[in-house]
Amino acid sequence: MKKKIIVTGGTGYIGSHTAVELIADGFEVVIIDNLYNSDISVLEGIRAITGVTPKFWQYDLCDIQKLEEVFVAEGRIDAIIHFAAYKAVGESVRKPLEYFRNNLVSLMNLLEMMERHNSPVMVFSSSCTVYGQPDTLPVTEASPVKEAASPYGYTKQAGEIIIRDTMAARPSQKAVSLRYFNPIGAHPTAFLGELPQGVPENLVPFITQTAMGLREELKVFGTDYDTPDGSCIRDYLHVVDLAKAHVTALQRMLEGQNKSNYEVFNLGMGKGVSVLEAIAAFEKATGVKLKYSVTDRRAGDIEKIWADPSLANRELGWKTEISIEEAMETAWRWENRLKNKE
Ligand code: UD1
Repeated sequence: MKKKIIVTGGTGYIGSHTAVELIADGFEVVIIDNLYNSDISVLEGIRAITGVTPKFWQYDLCDIQKLEEVFVAEGRIDAIIHFAAYKAVGESVRKPLEYFRNNLVSLMNLLEMMERHNSPVMVFSSSCTVYGQPDTLPVTEASPVKEAASPYGYTKQAGEIIIRDTMAARPSQKAVSLRYFNPIGAHPTAFLGELPQGVPENLVPFITQTAMGLREELKVFGTDYDTPDGSCIRDYLHVVDLAKAHVTALQRMLEGQNKSNYEVFNLGMGKGVSVLEAIAAFEKATGVKLKYSVTDRRAGDIEKIWADPSLANRELGWKTEISIEEAMETAWRWENRLKNKE
């Protein structure tokens, strides 16, 4: 019998790509998403790639009665992958309570369901944001968790602690927190990709929308940082590589290969890329010249961060396979598809 996995936020950017990889590996996927920041048409994208339309519940995870309904109706749930969350750094500064309530109540409700319904495994979407600006690079999982720069960052730090302490009290259950660096790109079929609402805050959707003529120009937020070309450095990884890490982490726990019942992994390429280098990678991959100019630093940005992914390489047997140029090319293909769908 297929193992049944609940994917919260499964119509979102990373969730939808992970649903595809889960289906490809023989899992049954059940999505719960309130469509706050995603679109129901994503289910068609998943079907176009896999031939399967996942079961879908349009519920808010903060509503524990509704959640109970799902768990009762679905019966045995082998694992939960929890993506659903608010994720805009700037918005979280303006609406802190909404971020704390949404991101933490939903997580606590799911942990409650895990116990009530004997669902033994959770994978949690965390972020490299928990490290703040690290003192040494690359960052390992042992690097200190620093004061967060935003309520969003605190929700990821607090989420990790809530899971860690809950697992400490539940030896028969298992969880991992996956600390993502910067996911970019789209599914190579162009049936799935990132769907930012309004003006994108993240770099790559802004690049592709500018190249498409939807935005006047890209603003590079500062070239006066202490980096080789002066722009900020991040570790960009392809969303399909990232999605595959979830399946590997899940399988490891289902097969009892985990070393302890709560583990943390960095997921990145292990390579720092500056904003100017990212632009150059886009131009090289697509042959499209990007209009950009340099402006002031963005509040809250850290100067540089990239991962040491060797723990995930070793323990999960996972590593990134897709280059930043290929990632840019898939993002561009997706932007073109969005245009043609209009
Ligand atoms: C941020 C969060 C991360 C979160 C992610 C999702 C921090 C430190 N990081 O990543 O935890 O998961 O958002 O939304 O809080 N840039 C420009 N011009 C633009 C847009 C971006 O120059 O128009 C630059 C930024 O200054 C940054 C890089 O591009 O150096 C990447 O920015 P972005 O895609 O927004 O991601 P992060 O801020 O790294």
